[in-house]
This record gives sequence, C-alpha cells and structure tokens, in this order.
Amino acid sequence: SYPEETKFLRSELYKWAGDANCYDKDEPYVEVVTSPNNPDGSIRGTVVNREGGKAIHDLAYYWPQYAPITSKADHDAMLFTFSKATGHAGTRIGWAIVKDKVIAAKMVKFIEVSSIGVSREAQLRAAKVLGVIADECRNTDVKGENFFEYGRRLMSERWGKLREVGMKSNGVFSLPKYPRDYCKFTGEYTDSNPAFAWLKSKEGLNCENLLRDESKIITRGGPSFGVDSTYTRVSMLSRDVEFELLLERLAAVRGTVNGN
Ligand SMILES: Cc1ncc(COP(=O)(O)O)c(C=O)c1O
Repeated sequence: SYPEETKFLRSELYKWAGDANCYDKDEPYVEVVTSPNNPDGSIRGTVVNREGGKAIHDLAYYWPQYAPITSKADHDAMLFTFSKATGHAGTRIGWAIVKDKVIAAKMVKFIEVSSIGVSREAQLRAAKVLGVIADECRNTDVKGENFFEYGRRLMSERWGKLREVGMKSNGVFSLPKYPRDYCKFTGEYTDSNPAFAWLKSKEGLNCENLLRDESKIITRGGPSFGVDSTYTRVSMLSRDVEFELLLERLAAVRGTVNGN
C-alpha cells in the first residue's frame, strides 16, 4: 500500500498526503490514479485537478479480462505490469509510457540505480509472451478463444459463482456492482470482473477477522486501504482448486463470530 511504501522509502521529497478526495493543500502534489482500482475494482480518474500537480496512472488492471477497455489510454504517465496482464508476476517486468522525456529519463536512471538494470532473461521472456499473445489476437484465422477472451470467460465464471454465494449469505456479506460498458477491444458490452473481490460484511462485523476465524480464509482488511473493517479484499486469481475451496468456505460463513 502507498503509505507503507512512502514511509519505507523514507523520502525527504515526498510525504504521503492521504486520500486524494480529501487533499486540499495548495502545494505541488503527485496523484496516483489506479484504474481499475485495487482493491475495489472501480474505474477512476484524477480528482484533485489543480495546477502544480502531476498524475501517475497505474493501469495494472486495465486489460480486457478484468474490465471493458472503453478508450485508448492517453495519460502523461502510465504504468503497466506483466504480472496482471498474463499472470507472470515472478518475471518482475513492468513498463511505463511517459510523454515527458525528462521524466522518462529520470525513471530509467531510477531503475539503473535501484536495480543495476533489469534482467535480460526476464525481458526476453516477457517480450516473447506478449508477442505471442498479440499475434494471436491480431490473427483472425485462429480458431477458438484468444488469450484475453479465455481470461475474461474464466473471470466472469468466477465472479458469477462468487456472486451466487454472496446472494445466499443472507446479507452476511455483499459485493460491489459494476456498470457494464462497451469494450473497444472485444467489440462487445462487457462486465468488470476485477482481480480482487471487495467484500463488505454486515455493519458491526470485522470482515477480515470474521473470514479468518470462522472459515480460515486469509484476506486483507479495509483499514490497510484506508476504510473501515467491514471491508476486506479477497483475491480472485488463485488456482482453480483454491478458488473452489474459497467458495466452499465462504458459503459456510454465518457471521456468528463477530470478529472484532
Ligand atoms: C494496482 C497495482 N499496480 C501495480 C502493482 C505491481 O505489480 P508488480 O509488482 O507485480 O509489477 C500491483 C500489484 O499488486 C497492483 O495491484
């Protein structure tokens, strides 16, 4: 999470200034916009919009398996990661598209200083995988689903199952609703199927503790993300067996342990 990271880096230049929605200082600022957002999956834009500010758009989850691609991303500074695009988190490859050459050069220098350079092997692997996926998407002769269609179907099936469990929970927990939108990549109206489920329990319950104590489900609670403990974040990207076990355990949660 950003507060933890900012503190860890002990930067003299930057301080964590809190939720952008509450930012009212008349000072230079950097606003990080994560869209689709982690943890709640919402589509976001800048909110401060003041002179002297810069925005960094984190588009880690802006891929068709998670959300409709409604427009070409065209921000001044955009971050992407191989990990959420294809699931290759361990390869540790990300990239940025940055319009200002001076900022881009500083970012290159930062990578050099902090890591002495990015593993060539990892770069080659990422370039190959992305190349294969892009070729498959462009080649209309390929029969069956392409990589993103496959991912979208899988995510949509998982969300369908999770929502069913949520509906049967008698209000013990609920899930956010997302607007359907036109996806320019697939040419269809599609749903958002975020990589995380942002679970909310009944008022008065601590959702993270409740899931842990009643069903041995490990999640990350709302307070880590600046909201109250009725919220918790559950990964939707586990392996099939783990996901089925998650559904089974969630279905067994009764909300009788108050978890506080
Ligand atoms: C919104 C967002 N951005 C960036 C990242 C960084 O991903 P990685 O370190 O795997 O490149 C994550 C990982 O969880 C994320 O959720």
